[in-house]
Amino acid sequence: MALQRPQYLIDTLHKLSYNEKLGRLAPNTVMTEFRPATPADLAAITEIYNEAILHTVATMDTEPQTLDDRRRWLTRHDDNHPVLVAAKNGTVVGWASLNEWSDRPGYAVTAEVSLFIHPDHRGRGIGKQLLHEVLEAGRRTTLRSLVARIADENIVSLNLFRAVGFEDVGLMREVGKKFDRLIDIWVLQHLLGDRDGIQE
Ligand SMILES: CC(C)(COP(=O)(O)OP(=O)(O)OC[C@H]1O[C@@H](n2cnc3c(N)ncnc32)[C@H](O)[C@@H]1OP(=O)(O)O)[C@@H](O)C(=O)NCCC(=O)NCCS
Repeated sequence: MALQRPQYLIDTLHKLSYNEKLGRLAPNTVMTEFRPATPADLAAITEIYNEAILHTVATMDTEPQTLDDRRRWLTRHDDNHPVLVAAKNGTVVGWASLNEWSDRPGYAVTAEVSLFIHPDHRGRGIGKQLLHEVLEAGRRTTLRSLVARIADENIVSLNLFRAVGFEDVGLMREVGKKFDRLIDIWVLQHLLGDRDGIQE
């Protein structure tokens, strides 16, 4: 027989955040915390990003960044452009951000998403949850539209972004070059007002 949760527990869980729900349902599991990034997270953020720069086409940056590069990057993010981290037992294992898409004021309602998980922690659901969290953070800003540029060969990322509601705008052919090969890049878009198919 299927285990029925009492109504009071269902009602309580409904009101809790994702982190709180995990704690109530499985108090002994290692918790992944999702929270805004602070300058203290910059070393881990830089390390995770540099691994992706050196080994993947997830970013078209080609040279590793210094801590100061990432410090300047963090200061360019304001309340309207959140940076979140995922942390396990206090160790940062991934980060996501909404970045300014254009410096022309008329485009201020649009941001571009970045999402990176440490290689040792991929494939465990953290990327998907962190993407959900940064979309939720985006809904609390004045942003209306999010875009993502994803390499055609980055199948995991393409599937993930499409699964959370990003739609294909189109494929830009041979716009990038990395590791001595030309890279096709998909542009995807998500309207923040379009939640569960309902336009606000
Ligand atoms: C892309 C990335 C952020 C996904 O994060 P993740 O924590 O590894 O992904 P999750 O475990 O949350 O899985 C997300 C989905 O991808 C699928 N997936 C994960 N790893 C996969 C793999 N190796 N092969 C196929 N599918 C995979 C999962 O099945 C899941 O889908 P589901 O919910 O339908 O099961 C992460 O792999 C990463 O940092 N990659 C390098 C950087 C990058 O590509 N960033 C995106 C740039 S736009």
